[in-house]
Amino acid sequence: MILLFASQKGGPGKSTAAMNVSVELARLGRDVVLVDADKQRSSARWAEDRAEAGHSPAIACVEKRGKVHTALRELASRYEIVVVDAAGHDSEEARTAMTVADALIAPVRPSQLDLDTLEDLGNVVELARSFNPDLVALGLLSQVGTNSNESESTDAREYMKDYPLFEPLSSVIHFRKAYRDVVAEGLGVVEWTNSKAKAEISVLTAEIIERMQK
Ligand SMILES: Nc1ncnc2c1ncn2[C@@H]1O[C@H](COP(=O)(O)OP(=O)(O)OP(=O)(O)O)[C@@H](O)[C@H]1O
Ligand SMILES: [Mg+2]
Repeated sequence: MILLFASQKGGPGKSTAAMNVSVELARLGRDVVLVDADKQRSSARWAEDRAEAGHSPAIACVEKRGKVHTALRELASRYEIVVVDAAGHDSEEARTAMTVADALIAPVRPSQLDLDTLEDLGNVVELARSFNPDLVALGLLSQVGTNSNESESTDAREYMKDYPLFEPLSSVIHFRKAYRDVVAEGLGVVEWTNSKAKAEISVLTAEIIERMQK
């Protein structure tokens, strides 16, 4: 199974989600490989730090650039789950990955400027579906404010209805310092004791697995 994290906006949290979901999948005993398909190397650097620190479970990470579809197919024949971290713009890597992915997961901040980019991303998804008709497209609200009085996630969810091509995930990633703190350690938030982020990544990972079993 190939899970691609991609967006046409920089910085909503693709690498953060890809790294953290990979750790949770590995902890659940899944045979996972993380593919860094962005020359920025966020996931690759994190994986290097993780390997150097000797954290267990080890997360295999490979870097792929350009037309990545053949390499992803090959990895999918060797690993149970291939998690792909793509760049924050319309890239050759994201486009070619979409032609072989089982799911595109698009993290979006609850901001009009992020949500507006779903239209262009949706056009790329439609194009990819002419090669890969079963491609599932999931919208993931990310960096949502933690102030309980804020209605931003409800408002964003309403706005996402304008882009029905993306199925909204019920799970949300909130803006939490833990996501920044763990990166330098080569860890995932699920390995961070008593973190609220830990619970949300567990729930998100379970939701993705359940959705893909449909
Ligand atoms: N849920 C979160 N809470 C707090 N900070 C976050 C969260 N998600 C991401 N960040 C921070 O926001 C910045 C961008 O995150 P990240 O690199 O994961 O996004 P990205 O979508 O991969 O970006 P790019 O488009 O540049 O690849 C980083 O500094 C990261 O630590
Ligand atoms: Mg990134």
